[in-house]
Amino acid sequence: MKKKAVLTELERTDDYVSGEQLSEILGVSRTAVWKQIQSLREQGYEIEAQPRIGYRLLKRPDLLLPAEIASGLNTTCLGQEVVYYSEVDSTNEIARRLAQQGAAEGTLVVAERQTKGKGRLGRAWVSPEGEGLWFSFILRPKMLPPEAPRATLVAAVAVAQALRRETGLNIRIKWPNDLLLEGKKITGILTEMNSEIGRINFLVVGIGINVNLNLHSIPPEINATATSLNAHLKQPASRLVLLHRCLEELEKYYELWQKGAFPEILAEWRHLSATLGNQVQIKMLDDMIEGFAEEVELDGSLRLRLADGSVYQVIAGDVAFDPPKL
Ligand code: BTN
Repeated sequence: MKKKAVLTELERTDDYVSGEQLSEILGVSRTAVWKQIQSLREQGYEIEAQPRIGYRLLKRPDLLLPAEIASGLNTTCLGQEVVYYSEVDSTNEIARRLAQQGAAEGTLVVAERQTKGKGRLGRAWVSPEGEGLWFSFILRPKMLPPEAPRATLVAAVAVAQALRRETGLNIRIKWPNDLLLEGKKITGILTEMNSEIGRINFLVVGIGINVNLNLHSIPPEINATATSLNAHLKQPASRLVLLHRCLEELEKYYELWQKGAFPEILAEWRHLSATLGNQVQIKMLDDMIEGFAEEVELDGSLRLRLADGSVYQVIAGDVAFDPPKL
């Protein structure tokens, strides 16, 4: 019997389903059905059992369990394999290890909480339990290593579109890959690569989305620059629904990229950009540079027009000042 078979049957109706019906439909004994009901309860599902009537699903846990993710996910590759943790150091680290052991493209690692969430440029990513989406997935694009930075731009467009459609909020992209809401960070993306000179072995794309963050319990320095969807929606958002939409959009845009439509995706990136058309300051290692953000190039770099009229191409850095474009 498939792990989520009983759950799928209970989800089909708001009414009771008898143990007999379940064992007939699933072709297993009533003891096997009972065992699965018990295991679902242990995972946090509330299931009522009425003698001689049957079982009824009352409440699903607010957890990103593999069975929950599988139910209603409309993808063919991304998230078809799910590795779930209630607590982990970093989903990127786990995904990297799995990819090294040969895990399939699309494998998703998701956690309720990260104890050592990693941000870009060696920073930490605050990932409190159940308050956000902290996930990573494995890609194995048939491309050359210099094309890898594009994965982050593709992911930024996909997640921005998923969140915009699902919440109606005006989410924008700050170069290279932060998603902002009213000028504050709502999502970060960290792409890591394993490659040889002539080929990408795998990419791990890690995404952190502040969904229902308790903004009072995060460090003040992060609170000053970050925000969370619930603060703008004035109510908690469903992490599961958002995860489904993100995975679906990520798969769609990844396929487009593979088919050669990167210029079109970049055009969407430009359209969603909070950086282009502004005077910005960019922090690069120990240096700071200021200029007018003119264009994002096909390699993902940012073209700055400096005060003396010259052009400066920024490959990696952090936009320090970037007023929101509303
Ligand atoms: C950044 O903006 O600095 C990138 C943040 C990326 C955070 C996500 S959360 C899931 C995945 N696991 C990690 O350790 N980091 C990424």
